[in-house]
Amino acid sequence: MVWSAAQYLKFEAERTRPARDLLAQVDTPADGLLYDLGCGPGNSTELIAKRFPGRTVAGIDSDEDMLAAARRRLPDIIFQKADLERWVPEAPAGLLYANAVFQWVPEHLNVLDRLMVGLSPGGTLAVQMPDNLDADSHMLMEEVARSPRWEKAFRDFAIRRAPLPPPSAYLETLGRTAARVDVWHTTYYHALDNAEAIVEWVRGTGLRPYLAHLPAEQRDAYRADYLESITAAFPAMADDRVLLPFKRLFVIAVKTR
Ligand SMILES: C[S@@+](CC[C@H](N)C(=O)[O-])C[C@H]1O[C@@H](n2cnc3c(N)ncnc32)[C@H](O)[C@@H]1O
Repeated sequence: MVWSAAQYLKFEAERTRPARDLLAQVDTPADGLLYDLGCGPGNSTELIAKRFPGRTVAGIDSDEDMLAAARRRLPDIIFQKADLERWVPEAPAGLLYANAVFQWVPEHLNVLDRLMVGLSPGGTLAVQMPDNLDADSHMLMEEVARSPRWEKAFRDFAIRRAPLPPPSAYLETLGRTAARVDVWHTTYYHALDNAEAIVEWVRGTGLRPYLAHLPAEQRDAYRADYLESITAAFPAMADDRVLLPFKRLFVIAVKTR
């Protein structure tokens, strides 16, 4: 599944806001490298480097286009290609920070549990994931895919994201090796220009697997049907803009010393 840094960065300010809110809850990290996992085009990596000057920061991602954009943006930082399903730090890390990536990693709670082992004593795991699969923006992708026109094309579609485990699961699992686990939700309300902008937003993330599954010549038609549903579900506000609610889950686990 290929990513596009340019498409993702169309909404850079809005997408980086939760990255800032997550980092705001990270205290001075313990000894070791500070890793940005699923670093994307380097927007979140830049925040970490600015927040902790003098510390060594490294970015990890599985996508070439994202890594190339990150290297252009931050030439002094090391970016490595790896799949987070299997990756472990070479030496105990001070910070494992992951903004908007683990929702794409199957069985991610087990992966996070394993990553706690890769932290220095007192090290921090900081994770944010969209928790919006029940939002209209996502439900409608699926509803259109299951409609009579598209049902056949999506019959063997396998890249559906699983809902996140409940907050208690993070507390229970990570609490086994953490001195402190902090879990919270925030719902952001993004005022976007129009319904088309909602489609553009998800085209950088959640809609990609749906479009990638279709032959190129069918993508515009699926996208048009999705836009029609989005237009009906998101009426314009008084200023003609539309409001996209976006719920996100945050988890901070600080390893015992
Ligand atoms: C939504 S972007 C997040 C970018 C950035 N961290 C931010 O805060 O905006 C998700 C990134 O996770 C990466 N990714 C997805 N699955 C991955 C995996 N299994 N291993 C490594 N990176 C992955 C994608 O390539 C993409 O760059």
